[in-house]
Amino acid sequence: MVKRVSIFSPATVANVGPGFDILGFALNEPGDEISIEISENSHHIIENNTDIKIPLDPVKNVATVAIDAMLNALGSKARFHITFNRKIPAGSGIGSSAASSAAAVYAANILLGNPYSETELVPFAMQGEKAASGSAHADNVAPALLGGFVLVRSYNPLDIVRISSPKELYCSVVHPNISIATEDSRKILKSSVPLKTAITQCGNVAGLVTGLITEDFRLIRDSMHDVIAEPIRSFLIPEYDKVKKAALDSGALGCSISGSGPSIFALSENSEIASIVGIAMKDVFSSAEIGSNLFISQINMGGMKVLESI
Ligand code: HSE
Repeated sequence: MVKRVSIFSPATVANVGPGFDILGFALNEPGDEISIEISENSHHIIENNTDIKIPLDPVKNVATVAIDAMLNALGSKARFHITFNRKIPAGSGIGSSAASSAAAVYAANILLGNPYSETELVPFAMQGEKAASGSAHADNVAPALLGGFVLVRSYNPLDIVRISSPKELYCSVVHPNISIATEDSRKILKSSVPLKTAITQCGNVAGLVTGLITEDFRLIRDSMHDVIAEPIRSFLIPEYDKVKKAALDSGALGCSISGSGPSIFALSENSEIASIVGIAMKDVFSSAEIGSNLFISQINMGGMKVLESI
């Protein structure tokens, strides 16, 4: 029986191009690192060894909210001591709350003897997302748990489909040092879209998924267009149009908002182009005197990583 487990949980890019709420993938870096063990206490304990502020109240922390959803389903009264050793900043658009929610249920599942498969853990981790943003979306937690590209084919009933992608595909993500709450950037979206817009978006989602599976870079490039969320949300991100232009001019296949922003991601055909693209994107923020962090990553096919298990 495992007594303590330490997990690396990857950052994720959600809303990939036209795939609002339904398409995401996992990155190799950055990520959360948490360590978790069963506690004899009557409530969960949260310890924070990072310099990122997180709620220590188990009712408010997404990790314990997600774990409680799982414990309720199991009818278990187990309690856990969770230590955060590394944390993606909240409001970054690269799946901060998802990384914690997914890591927590993944680790707790191991400590409880693996009652659930990774796919079965997705709905519990979604409850962490709901606590963080008011919406139980799966396009960050599913790729964090399963790795690779994941399509949320349906929310009701939940149907998660893992999608293959070209091995050479690389992602450049630039995180400007501002934060945007997912809850706020969801509120500004329209609740309905014209039929023409829906048709354009559906064509691009189908094209992108087909392009990924058939490793057709031309089709990926032609399909990386979002006519629903990007035109509204991009106003929240300073220098957005310039960053996107810099990415495309440098050879990116496509560039869009990562999750609900402010991070911006670009997909490229190989690591060399991804580095050039990433630097060009970061340079735009530097010219506007906005600090930013750049991550270049291949698609993370493994998802969660067990760092230590005792
Ligand atoms: N699909 C979610 C949204 C992702 O855009 O609100 C949040 O990271």
